[in-house]
Amino acid sequence: MEYNYDIEKDMPKLREFTNYLKTIKNDQGAIMPALQKAQQEYGFIPEAIVDIIALELEVHSSEIFGVATFYSQFRFIPKGEMDISVCTGTACYVKGANDILVELTNQLGIKSGETSEDGEYSIEGVRCIGACGLAPVMVINGEVYGKVKSSDIEKILKEHRKEVRV
Ligand code: FES
Repeated sequence: MEYNYDIEKDMPKLREFTNYLKTIKNDQGAIMPALQKAQQEYGFIPEAIVDIIALELEVHSSEIFGVATFYSQFRFIPKGEMDISVCTGTACYVKGANDILVELTNQLGIKSGETSEDGEYSIEGVRCIGACGLAPVMVINGEVYGKVKSSDIEKILKEHRKEVRV
């Protein structure tokens, strides 16, 4: 799925972002803060924004993509309305994080790192969130679920679907 970013509709924010880029332009390693700011502002890194960063920092777009793809914190697609993270840190992995990811894929038809076509769901594997005693851990829109079993997934998703629609 293509995620289009409408520059025309977003001019004020874009102007602000471009001004920010001008302030860091001469800093060493300016690409990283530029990407962080972009993700903070847009929730992901639209392709058009990569081009704007490249233009303002006078580097090639491929260099920006190179940095962005090296760090797992950056996303090139927006998160879903139901933003699901599954911890894949060691404790969670050992206790079955992969089974949770498989079950989520079965239920939602998308894999880790993807967002559904309708923008309703996204799934992401994340590093340790510091709740290892509750492993395996899953987070939906900031709400933490501990000791999750594959058999719990359907019920948890149903609960959240209700919350999202209320
Ligand atoms: S490994 Fe999952 S919370 Fe630490």
